[in-house]
Parts: sequence; C-alpha cells; structure tokens
Amino acid sequence: MFRTRRLRKTPAIRRLVRETNLSVDDFIYPLFIEEGTNIETEIVSMPGIKRFSLDRISKELDEVVALKIPAVLLFGIPSNKDTEGTETWNENGIMQKAIRFIKQKYPDLYVITDVCFCEYTSHGHCGIIHENDVDNDATLVNIAKQVISHAKAGVDMVAPSGMMDGTIEIVRQSLDNSGFSDLPIMAYSVKYASAFYGPFRDAADSAPTFGDRKTYQMDPANREEGLRKATFDDEEGADILMVKPALSYLDIIRDLKNNFDRPIACYNVSGEYAMIKAAAEKGWIDGEKVMMESLLSMKRAGADIIITYFAKEAAKILNK
Ligand code: PBG
Repeated sequence: MFRTRRLRKTPAIRRLVRETNLSVDDFIYPLFIEEGTNIETEIVSMPGIKRFSLDRISKELDEVVALKIPAVLLFGIPSNKDTEGTETWNENGIMQKAIRFIKQKYPDLYVITDVCFCEYTSHGHCGIIHENDVDNDATLVNIAKQVISHAKAGVDMVAPSGMMDGTIEIVRQSLDNSGFSDLPIMAYSVKYASAFYGPFRDAADSAPTFGDRKTYQMDPANREEGLRKATFDDEEGADILMVKPALSYLDIIRDLKNNFDRPIACYNVSGEYAMIKAAAEKGWIDGEKVMMESLLSMKRAGADIIITYFAKEAAKILNK
C-alpha cells in the first residue's frame, strides 16, 4: 500500500518535506496617506488599517521597519480632486511629499507607488473621461507625467494600476528618457473588475460616481485573456507582473508563474482582508490561522511577492 502518512508523522518530518514557506521577505504593506494634518482614521470595513496624514505616520512606519517588512505601497488621498486628476503630478502633492518624507527618514524601506487617478478624479474613474468612458490614449499622457513626478520625488518602484493599454510601454519610455532607466515597474497586469475592492474604495475615496470599471478592468470569467495581457506587459518591459485580486484568482497566479520568467506578485485585496476579519470577529473562524493559510496558498500558487494588509500581523507570527 502507498503510505503517504509516513512523512506526516511528526512536526520535524513535516518541516523537512514542506514545499512552501512563507516569509516576511515576501510582503509589501499598503499605506493610505491623506493630505492634511493630525489624521489617523480607522477604516471601518478594514479593521486595523488606517488613513494617516504624514505628521502621524512615523509610528506606523517604525513598526513596519521593526517587523522587517521590506516594502510599502503608497496610496495618496488628496484634498483636491478635478476631472483629470492633475494633483497626481503636482510636485507638492501628497504622494510626492510622502515619498520624500519616507525616503529621507527611512532610507532602507523600499517605497512603491500605486500610479492611478481614481483617488484624484472628481468622477472616481482611472483616467480622463470622454463620452462616458475612460479615454485610453489621453490618459497615457497623464500617466507619464505622474510617473515622472514620483520618480523625481525619489520613489524606488512604480506600480501603474489603471489598466490602460500601452501603459508599461509609455512608462518605460518616459522613465528612460528622463534619466530613470534604473527604476523598475511592477505592472498590475491581470487586474479584474472585482467586487472584492469594495472596502478599498471607502478607504481611498475612489468609488466611481457613475458606471463601473468594466471597460478597462478584466472580466473575472477570463483566464486566457490574462495571459495575453501579461504578455503585452512583459514585452513592454514590466519588471514584475501582478495578479489582482489574489484568492479567487490563484489559477491566474499559477498561469503567470508557469509562463513568464519574471517575479510574480499578487494583491491580497481589501475585500479578502475584510471577509477574514469579519468572520473572525464573529468567532466563526480562527482569523490568525485562516490568514496564514490564505497567504500560504498565494505563495504555493506561485506568487513571489504578496501585497497584503495582513503584512504586519503575519510578520509578527513569522518573526517569532
Ligand atoms: C486603483 C486601485 C484599486 C485597488 C488598488 N489600486 C481600486 C480599484 O481598482 O477600484 C484596490 C485594492 C484593494 O481592494 O485592496 N487605484
């Protein structure tokens, strides 16, 4: 008889044959930074996650550094929105100030910026609106402006998340032409039009005021299209390819891992976080164990990098 249980008998042998190991080195921690002062607002649908103004954020960053989390992903929440999101390339905008502040005070912490417009536009869409839809090529011009201004502020890596075609090509070209050929790009390559972003849109004030994002974000039914989209980003020069969300899209993570010779990232999004937190709060699941099991499943699926709101909590367990 085949006896697979022989290798499960004790913790020591289970450790020896374990195929996947989660590490704090895998994590990127998202941060919501709001323009203004004295802000530290708990996000109701994301227990434990807050929006901070820069004057209140040091405590959070000290903790991230002490826990040895290698990187943060910044989201800016500006005081002023307009139809184009012009604040995104203001050199004194919230993102630019945040990059300079963090790099000056925590030079070893790796700073990545989410490059998008939805938090900065009055209509909440990820670009310029033309005839009730986002105009792809007009938006590309503004993406380039935004990326260059982040680069000038000293960011370590940019992560364009708006799902406009041709983004990676224009971002790579603009960076190269402006003296930033060493600055890497993490592409939100396979980003689905997902209901799992609900809590984030409260957190970042970025829900669209009309319509939805289905003309630019992908249909959750499509797998082959994901490979096609990742191929474009790969050829256009993305350094890291990302799948988002993570938990309902583990098959896509594995597809990318098997098909591309690039580091693969996944984004364990706000709704995935909120579900675990809510069920744990009710006492229906063991929140800590479910958190660790789901992060492990993303790693096992093929993610080299996991962007997660659980980073601090999981790091505390992994660092023990
Ligand atoms: C777009 C962006 C979104 C998220 C990250 N970047 C929202 C969206 O596409 O509507 C979602 C992240 C999450 O749900 O945790 N700037």
